[in-house]
Amino acid sequence: MDVFEAIKGRRSIRNYKDKPVEDEKIGMILEACRWAPSAGNRQPWEVVVVNDPDEIESLAKASYEQTWISMAPVVFAICINEKIALANYGKRGEMYALETIGCATQNMMLAAYSLGLGSCCVTAFEEDRVREILGCPEFIRPAAILPVGYPDENPPPPYRDEIGKFTYLNKYGKEAEPTWSGLVKYGGRIKKKILKTLEKI
Ligand SMILES: Cc1cc2nc3c(=O)[nH]c(=O)nc-3n(C[C@H](O)[C@H](O)[C@H](O)COP(=O)(O)O)c2cc1C
Repeated sequence: MDVFEAIKGRRSIRNYKDKPVEDEKIGMILEACRWAPSAGNRQPWEVVVVNDPDEIESLAKASYEQTWISMAPVVFAICINEKIALANYGKRGEMYALETIGCATQNMMLAAYSLGLGSCCVTAFEEDRVREILGCPEFIRPAAILPVGYPDENPPPPYRDEIGKFTYLNKYGKEAEPTWSGLVKYGGRIKKKILKTLEKI
């Protein structure tokens, strides 16, 4: 699957079919985590793969009653090993750790999508409760919960700002939109041609 297709086509999925996810696909999602970039290449992620329905239900309850989570046949609890992530990095280490986990989570979501699966990053949860459910020691911080399953919905893409809304040229506040409009102004064949050219770079 083309990387732009994956980035653009992935949606947060909150309805799953009653169908298990194959071990091979779970392995590929973990492989995608493994190859994520990490600050200092410390790879501070640790992932609890949860397939016990009762435990998944407990995670859903600990996520402020986001009951849809219990529909997922498998949930990846993506944690930060703070002993690895924070050593010698001081205060900024906390930011590095969250950035790293964000990269790993996005890799996993894109891999899931490319395998025909749906996922949704969840961070609204009671951290202490989730830590207890997973049996994590105190230096393991649950950072994201990723329910994964076969999608039972096909939501439309939610609104995204245009590039010009969040991009500046050289200095903050200086507009850059006329130069870099991305693909928004192109459609159909031209867009396909641009994507093909980008693939060759
Ligand atoms: C860090 C982060 C935390 C999120 N937490 C939740 C959550 O707790 N519950 C939920 O339903 N969706 C959650 N989402 C999903 C967002 O709502 C979703 O990504 C956003 O609405 C855009 O939709 P899309 O992913 O389909 O493009 C989270 C996404 C991110 C990146």
